[in-house]
Amino acid sequence: MSTILAIESSCDDTSAAVLRDDVLLSNVIASQKVHEQYGGVVPELASRAHEQNIIPVVDGAIREAGIRKEEIDAVAFTRGPGLMGSLMVGVSFAKSFAQALGKPIIEVNHLQAHVLSHFIRQEVQECRSTGEQTNALPDKKQEHSSAFLHSHTPTLPSFPFICLLVSGGHTQILLLHSHFDMEILGQTIDDAAGEAIDKAAKIMDLGYPGGPIIDRLAKEGDPEAFHFATPQIAGYDYSFSGIKTSFLYFLRDRLKEDPDFIEKNKADLCASIQKTIVDFLLKKVEKAALKHGVRQVAIAGGVSANSRLRSELQRICDKHRWQAFIPPFKFCTDNAAMVGIAGYFKYLKGEFADISLPPYTR
Ligand code: KG4
Ligand code: ZN
Repeated sequence: MSTILAIESSCDDTSAAVLRDDVLLSNVIASQKVHEQYGGVVPELASRAHEQNIIPVVDGAIREAGIRKEEIDAVAFTRGPGLMGSLMVGVSFAKSFAQALGKPIIEVNHLQAHVLSHFIRQEVQECRSTGEQTNALPDKKQEHSSAFLHSHTPTLPSFPFICLLVSGGHTQILLLHSHFDMEILGQTIDDAAGEAIDKAAKIMDLGYPGGPIIDRLAKEGDPEAFHFATPQIAGYDYSFSGIKTSFLYFLRDRLKEDPDFIEKNKADLCASIQKTIVDFLLKKVEKAALKHGVRQVAIAGGVSANSRLRSELQRICDKHRWQAFIPPFKFCTDNAAMVGIAGYFKYLKGEFADISLPPYTR
C-alpha cells in the first residue's frame, strides 16, 4: 500500500492532497481571490500567494488525511505546463519536503492529471452530499482499511476511451489507450475553450473568471436567442478565436443601436454563446467516438464544470447508449487530488524523478 502527498501550483490554486493507493484521503485547495480585481491571473501575485499558502495547505491536507508525515511514501507534484513562478513554488516545496523525509519525488503533467482524475476513488458519504457522480466506495466505516480497498464496486472508465480536455489553457480530444498513452485526436489551433468563455464574459464586463458566471446567468436565458457562427475546421481540431471576434462585433453593432443592449439581454447572450461553444465542442467529440468505435466518453478540466457541457454530454451518450464520465465539480478545476492519482500510477511503475528536474511552462 502506498501513501502519496500531491502538490498542485501551476496557476492560481494552491492545493495539496493525500491518497492511499487510489483512494483520496484529503484534498485542500486555497484559491486566490486577488486576481479578480485585475480580470485575469497576475503571475507575480500568483507566485506570492502560493508562497503564503503552500505550508498551511500541505499541513491541512496531512492533518485532514489523519496520517503522520512519516507515513508518506512519495511526493508527487505538477511539473508543468503552467506559470513558471507558480510552478517554482510547488516544485521547490515538493522537492525539499521529500528530501527532508528521505522519500522519492514523482513529476506529473498537469493535463494528464486532469484526465486521470476519473480514476480517483473516494468515500460514498461525501459523494451523496454533493449529489455528484463519483468513483464511490461503498462503506465509509471501513475507511482506509485494506478490506475497504478490496470491496468496492467501481465505475471507472476502461481503455480505450475518449476524453475531452477543456481548461483555461487547453482544448483537446484524447483517445486513451492506457493511463499515460493519450493519443491527441484533435486540439485547438488558437484559443482554448475556457479562454473563449472568459473573454466573452470580459466583453460583457461580467467579472473573472467568466466561465462560472456565464454558466449561472445562462440558466435564465434562451440558448436560441442569438446565433454565432462556428468555423469549419478539418478533422477533430478546434478554433475559438473567430467565435470570440464574431461575438465582439455582434455586440459592438447592437450597442450602437441600444447602449443598454448587453444589460437587457445578458442571460440570453450567456445562454447563446455557451450553447455555441458547447455544441461545437461536443459535435467533434461525438464524431471521434463514432469513428473510433469507442463507447465511453469523459470530460475533464475546468470547463467540464459547465452545466450545459455536462448535460449535453449525458444526452449524447444516452442517445448512443455510451457511458458518460463526468467528474465531480471539485475535480474539474485545478486540484492536487488529480496530481495524486497520476502520481500513484507512476509510483506503481517505479517512475521517480531526479531532484534536479526543473518545471516547464509549455
Ligand atoms: O482547469 P482549470 O481550472 O485551469 C486551467 O488549467 O486552465 O480551468 C479554468 C477554466 C477557466 O477558463 C474557467 O472560466 C473555466 O475553466 N470554468 C468554467 C466553469 N467553471 C470553470 N467554464 C464554464 N462553465 C463553468 N461552470
Ligand atoms: Zn488545469
